[in-house]
Amino acid sequence: MEIVEFLNASVPWPYPENGAEEFLSFALSEINLRKRFIWAITITDASDDMLVGLIELASDDAFHRGFWLIPEHHKKGFMTEAVTAVNDFAFKVLEMPSMRLGNALPNIGSRKLKERSGAVLVEIIPEVEFVGGVYPEEVWELTAEEWWENRAKYPQALFLKAYFAYFFRNSVTLAGS
Ligand SMILES: CC(C)(COP(=O)(O)OP(=O)(O)OC[C@H]1O[C@@H](n2cnc3c(N)ncnc32)[C@H](O)[C@@H]1OP(=O)(O)O)[C@@H](O)C(=O)NCCC(=O)NCCS
Repeated sequence: MEIVEFLNASVPWPYPENGAEEFLSFALSEINLRKRFIWAITITDASDDMLVGLIELASDDAFHRGFWLIPEHHKKGFMTEAVTAVNDFAFKVLEMPSMRLGNALPNIGSRKLKERSGAVLVEIIPEVEFVGGVYPEEVWELTAEEWWENRAKYPQALFLKAYFAYFFRNSVTLAGS
């Protein structure tokens, strides 16, 4: 519940038995239509890559960027790093002029990720249904200019080069693939 509490109520919860399969089928069709980019966040150990989270960029959702991470790895800077890579991708590779972003008002971690990047709070929707209940929702706008002005606050993500090379070769990486 800790992961999904502040996710939009359209996320099925309790997660159905075929939830992962349904998600992958939806994700593949969106990726093929170039409507959505989805990246797995993994931790590599000697034996395998473990999926610990996900970040996505969508062209025609209410919000352009979404993410989640398993609680064991919260507050270690993982999402800061993922957001850095995805913002660079959105503004440098896709040349998006701006991103519309949102979070439930009590979701402080998610808000901080937006504030630090220079996003501007444009609206608070008083009542929105999230998986964990109804909360006000903060709506933000992050323009390319704001991102590049604030980019120096973030680490140079060294994996980006390899990552973009991978993108151009394979079009997209898919969670779980
Ligand atoms: C929101 C979420 C992605 C943050 O990921 P994270 O890897 O813990 O974030 P980071 O470690 O990069 O931290 C980013 C900033 O938020 C702060 N932060 C993170 N979680 C926080 C919390 N619960 N309370 C207060 N501050 C928090 C960090 O201290 C950091 O602040 P700083 O930039 O001033 O140093 C993670 O909590 C999560 O997956 N939550 C569940 C799913 C979710 O809510 N998704 C977003 C829907 S809009």
